[in-house]
Amino acid sequence: MTTRRAFFRQLCISAAALPVFPRAMGAFKAVSVDSIVSTEPWWKTGIIYQIYPRSFQDSNGDGLGDFPGMTSRLHHLRSLGVDAVWVTACFDSPNADNGYDVRDYRRISADFGTMGDFDRFMAEAKKQDIRVILDMVFNHSSDEHEWFRQSRSSRDNPYRDYYFWREPVNGGPPTNWPCAYGGSAWEFDKTTGQYYLHHYAIKQPDLNWENPKVRHELYAVLNFWAAKGVSGFRFDCAGEISKPLPFRDMTLAELKDNVIDYRTTGARLDEYFKEMRAATSAYPDLYFVGEGWGMPRDRIVRAVDDRNKELNSAFRFDFMLQNIRDGWRNLPWSLQRLKDFNKENQFDDDPHVWPIVFIEDHDFSRSVSRFGSSRPEYKDRSAKLLATMLLSLRGTPLIYQGEEIGMSNFPFTSVSQYNDIGVYNLWKDLVETGKVPAAEYLANNAITSRDNSRTPMQWDASSQAGFTTNSKPWLAVNPNYLQVNVESEAKERGSVLSFYRDLIRIRKSKPTLILGSYHDISGDHPQLYAYQRSGSSGTLVVLLNFSDEPTEFRLPISFKPKAVVINNVPQGKATLSASVPLLPWQSLILE
Ligand code: GLC
Repeated sequence: MTTRRAFFRQLCISAAALPVFPRAMGAFKAVSVDSIVSTEPWWKTGIIYQIYPRSFQDSNGDGLGDFPGMTSRLHHLRSLGVDAVWVTACFDSPNADNGYDVRDYRRISADFGTMGDFDRFMAEAKKQDIRVILDMVFNHSSDEHEWFRQSRSSRDNPYRDYYFWREPVNGGPPTNWPCAYGGSAWEFDKTTGQYYLHHYAIKQPDLNWENPKVRHELYAVLNFWAAKGVSGFRFDCAGEISKPLPFRDMTLAELKDNVIDYRTTGARLDEYFKEMRAATSAYPDLYFVGEGWGMPRDRIVRAVDDRNKELNSAFRFDFMLQNIRDGWRNLPWSLQRLKDFNKENQFDDDPHVWPIVFIEDHDFSRSVSRFGSSRPEYKDRSAKLLATMLLSLRGTPLIYQGEEIGMSNFPFTSVSQYNDIGVYNLWKDLVETGKVPAAEYLANNAITSRDNSRTPMQWDASSQAGFTTNSKPWLAVNPNYLQVNVESEAKERGSVLSFYRDLIRIRKSKPTLILGSYHDISGDHPQLYAYQRSGSSGTLVVLLNFSDEPTEFRLPISFKPKAVVINNVPQGKATLSASVPLLPWQSLILE
């Protein structure tokens, strides 16, 4: 391992020594940014924006977002400067888990429009130079999918082995596995007297990838959408598609720790990813990004190493899961853990392993509420500090809708305000059985629930934030929309949105921010996170004061700052001396 690391580090240093970006008059001038960046695949140099269709823009007044709505808002993404959109689960579904239970992989959900609407969305995205990535939910389907309807109808149906069926054991479930949404991961089906496996909702039976017919059906789905011009896929629960066989009870330790670790140890994962890549070889540039829930780091490295021809990248949740327990309980988070995670998520600058960087998606509460200041006067500043981090690490940044305007958690107070199967099922399991007091469950969920990030996008200060003309959107609009919305922030120089736009432009003009090596220089500073990015166009230093208190940071002797690249406190002074004072939640990039 050490030799391998040393080898890669050497490669990076040699690449950095290439005289591509000559210094001009003391400043680092990226004279051939376009040329260097154009030799890299778009997903390395680009930025991805995640749309949650249900909450992005409603066009027909039914209170749900849809494809015509998304099409009408593409110009916002263009002006933000992103390169691709990941459209979260959008296929035909009975919506037991908001689209993550697919009934037909080749149909757009009627909630979101028709195939014609999708085609128009694709055409407009192409015009605006925005690529489209679709969500492939291949670990499980809906129980209403034709395959499962067939499968459950009799033991000898040709589709029986498309799913996992097992005999009862001692009159109960075949193993002791818990379901992610509460209860057992096995459901008894009286038609045939056996149990089927569902790691998520009862309506989400797990597909049996051991069966080659299942795999080839799924690969055909990929080719179907690739032929429509999509640029890539995000694979839901990617680490879980290969099951650890034979099935056995989890040990107490496995049950107590993160149960998903056990589920992601199937032996055939790499084989499946490779096969999937080979089966779509007619589209060799497809971007594959996996949801790496529970996948150990070394498995991720193997799956995304570009020599292995599997995935291009994988989302890692090691840090994101640190302040949530059992899917609902809030725990404190620590800056040191964030630094540790970012360090190991840079993969030692290995040129074969490319990270994806995110601090928000549709499964977590809002990043500014989780990691930012709890003091209202520092809310926007901390949202900008988080943006500075997100857009200055090595890896493809993912911006989740609303993050670019500093959307924050919803003031949830009652269970009826949620629309998440996870929240409801755990309420039944924990509160209705008296295991957890309602007040405790609600207080924690208000902080951790993923519905916090699923509330409608805030476009303007009109009723329902411009999201819908319906007085009852599927999930209530955050009452802070009068202040936090795209229209008003677009006009304001100091807004979170303006900051994102500036930062994106800067990232694109400085290849070091994209491709440079990463080195944490924080030392043991308790509240400051500092790192440097170094490449052929020089060195940049990023300073992030994660605190309500001011501080000071002594720069490395070798780094003599010449300019401030960006400062999230525009009216605040930035001192270009060996020791840099920082205001609370101030972030700076220096060069
Ligand atoms: C993934 C999705 C999540 C969904 C789950 C089950 O984690 O991101 O939203 O509920 O898979 O499909």
